[in-house]
Amino acid sequence: MNTPRRQLINLLRGWPSTSLLPTTLVAQASSATFTNTKEAFPALCYGPDSGHEELRIALAQWLTTFYTPNSQFTVGNAASSVSPIDPVRICITGGASQNLACILQVFTDPLYTRGIWCISPMYFLAGRVFEDNGFSGRTFHAVPEDDEGLDISILEQGLQRDEDLLRSLTKDQQHQQHQRLKPLWPTNKHFRRVIYAVPTFSNPSSQTMSVKRRIQLVQLARRFDALVITDDVYDQLQWYSDSKIAAKAPDLASQPRIVDIDRFLDGGASEFGNAVSNGSFSKIIAPGVRTGWAEGTKALAHGLGQCGSSRSGGAPSQAMAAALTRIVESGQLQEHITNTLQPAYSARYVCMMNWIEKLLVPLGVVLPQTNRNIMGGFFIWLELPALLHGDGVARRAKDEEELIIGPGSFFVVPGDTTHNQKLIHSVRVCLAWEDEDSLEEGIRRLARVIRRMLDEGDAGDTGEKLVVSASAITNP
Ligand SMILES: Cc1ncc(COP(=O)(O)O)c(C=O)c1O
Repeated sequence: MNTPRRQLINLLRGWPSTSLLPTTLVAQASSATFTNTKEAFPALCYGPDSGHEELRIALAQWLTTFYTPNSQFTVGNAASSVSPIDPVRICITGGASQNLACILQVFTDPLYTRGIWCISPMYFLAGRVFEDNGFSGRTFHAVPEDDEGLDISILEQGLQRDEDLLRSLTKDQQHQQHQRLKPLWPTNKHFRRVIYAVPTFSNPSSQTMSVKRRIQLVQLARRFDALVITDDVYDQLQWYSDSKIAAKAPDLASQPRIVDIDRFLDGGASEFGNAVSNGSFSKIIAPGVRTGWAEGTKALAHGLGQCGSSRSGGAPSQAMAAALTRIVESGQLQEHITNTLQPAYSARYVCMMNWIEKLLVPLGVVLPQTNRNIMGGFFIWLELPALLHGDGVARRAKDEEELIIGPGSFFVVPGDTTHNQKLIHSVRVCLAWEDEDSLEEGIRRLARVIRRMLDEGDAGDTGEKLVVSASAITNP
């Protein structure tokens, strides 16, 4: 008799669990929006280039409350020190991925912009967006992370090397460096360089960058004419790592955004600034809404709205943006985050960590990022024992245990192998997609694989990669 196949557990997929999707909220908001012509007509027509006005206003208020932006770069201060976000700083987008493409379309030029500096390990689906916009191979530079986030001295060395190279060119060569492939419009500029990071609860490492590093990053970006693009998509999904300390999760941002630092540091940002925050409803409402927002200086937000596709069709996701306005304006979004998402994800985190500590840490697995007060996001990064290769562990987990995990090699910066050594001996697991029972079972399966490999002396370095279907991998 054949034994029934065990159920597949997918700890690679970085989607919110369907059980946490606010279907009623979205249905009610949509129904209220589309059954009343005053709201439905503008919602169903082409919208403004910068996006649905009411949503920009509602977002500005909500983001002001959450990030409490102020000139001290501290968060959670008394309301008097808060500098409200003006809606002109915000532009509605089709989500963080789509908007990354729009930012590159508007603010970079494949000839003029010299390269992309990416935090490593990196959110790997962003790689293709850069490649589609003309950046690949030698134009990619990996910057590793340490305990405080992005390693600022390695970044500085890389940027300085690039600047020295630029200055050492002959007159003719320098002239070429001013050529562009794209026209320059009055509403944009092309940056010489781009720095891409997920500074808070990073995907994949779950690392959070310190305030000091954030300030240094802005200073470097200003010095080297770089635009810092941050995906700030997990900032609200946070909790105290010690569940015994506080039952209630934090409701203010744990760190100032880099775009806020740029807004206030040393007298404030230049016209287009040097930072743009890419926000998204994907993780806090649902990925299918394909709606997000970008924040930067007034000129940057306006310029982004002048992206060719928005000038032609209005900002993306106009109808959905109109429905989401009700959810943000009414405070239902914050309620959903506070009452549903934070408790659910923190419980999953506690459950997963519990089993990791019980079953994986004794095998020599190391968790580099979990010593912080406040944790958050969707992922836990695991460094494997005895130089086991993440590829081998992931492949055997799938073949032998019906378990899918993300090997560290998925998260390397394409074209730059300089800092890959640690990555290839690591794996990423996601706490958001599977329920708590499956998280426990998933960690049990992973522990069995690691134990077997250690017993057999199999380092997992055959070079064979994990092969998974597109649906398992999309948006990990
Ligand atoms: C860092 C990061 N950026 C962007 C995205 C995708 O965001 P969106 O669904 O808004 O395109 C994800 C989703 O996994 C992510 O982790």
